[in-house]
Amino acid sequence: MKKYNIAVVGATGAVGEEIFRVLEELKFSVGEVLPLASAKSAGSQIEFNGKKFKVQELTDTVFKENKIDIAFFSAGGSVSQKFAPLAAKSGAVVIDNTSHFRMEPDVPLVVPECNSNDIKNWKKTGIIANPNCSTIQMVQILKPLDDAFGIKRVDVSTYQAASGAGKEGMEELVLQMQKFFEFKLDECLPKAFAHQLALNVIPHIDVFLDNDYTKEEMKMVNETRKILHKDIEVSATCVRVPVLRSHSEAITISFERDIDANEARKILEKAPNIVVLDDPSQKLYPMPIHSSDKNETFVGRIRVDNFCKNILHLWCAADQIRVGAATNAVRIAQIWAQEN
Ligand SMILES: NC(=O)c1ccc[n+]([C@@H]2O[C@H](COP(=O)([O-])OP(=O)(O)OC[C@H]3O[C@@H](n4cnc5c(N)ncnc54)[C@H](OP(=O)(O)O)[C@@H]3O)[C@@H](O)[C@H]2O)c1
Repeated sequence: MKKYNIAVVGATGAVGEEIFRVLEELKFSVGEVLPLASAKSAGSQIEFNGKKFKVQELTDTVFKENKIDIAFFSAGGSVSQKFAPLAAKSGAVVIDNTSHFRMEPDVPLVVPECNSNDIKNWKKTGIIANPNCSTIQMVQILKPLDDAFGIKRVDVSTYQAASGAGKEGMEELVLQMQKFFEFKLDECLPKAFAHQLALNVIPHIDVFLDNDYTKEEMKMVNETRKILHKDIEVSATCVRVPVLRSHSEAITISFERDIDANEARKILEKAPNIVVLDDPSQKLYPMPIHSSDKNETFVGRIRVDNFCKNILHLWCAADQIRVGAATNAVRIAQIWAQEN
């Protein structure tokens, strides 16, 4: 079996570490391993398949000096902007977790459960983009429902975990919780978030734009349309909540025709990488404690609107470091590897 030489840029970060775990779990056929990060982490070690690998500094020449087949990027947009084209020029396919290339017309934006066919267009730039974490779990649910009933409009509110802001976000929430119980919260001023996150919710993720939506909210609008190849109306409100891991979403979907909750449930039960948890009488519905560390998107609270029979409401939760980043990236790599 062919083995692929892998580089992970951002190997010491929340997403980078998880990419190694998912590559192990999905038994991806890996040859050489090149973990890359900033000068700060160079020399530290990561573990993969029971072996230790030294983290190297990302430099202009590292992709010339190493023969890499697949380069996963998860070190922020400015790092991808500069270094992803260098990796692609050296012959690697780049699978980019940042937002930098997502809306470029020649860069496929892929969620394998929805538009795996788009991967074949990777050669134009050498780059395949991974969508925003909140978008991925939502489109995994929208795609089978759209195929069956035709979606007109989606309204979504997100409940996004602290780890969506990387390791710094997780550490800030944990520290704030500790300081709260020590009555010393004023010792932990917000840095990763706009306000204190412990015991709070913040309706503000990424920067505000001229249209009064945030950049995070507009990612959900624009990326959904690009992935589904359809001009669905989408409106999003993105909220940070004091959860460590796994984003949840309340989604309202308007269809072209009347909808039956049982029919929708059956379609979602058959959809790939979706788990339906929907038995309120048993207090069964998705929560971050179910979805964390998992590779599936969990969906429940599926019900028809009280007033409009073509509107469905549902609730979902998924581990955004896995489903929303690492797992999606490795699934793209698996499909790419079948042809290359
Ligand atoms: N967290 C999520 O849920 C999530 C989901 C989807 C997409 N993403 C995206 O994935 C990217 C990474 O997110 P994260 O949460 O993993 O962040 P993170 O935990 O802060 O990790 C950032 C990683 O990037 C490395 N890095 C930073 N500056 C660098 C530079 N100049 N050169 C080389 N490496 C550099 C860091 O290395 P050092 O250790 O050397 O600092 C670290 O390994 C972001 O673009 C984010 O938007 C994140």
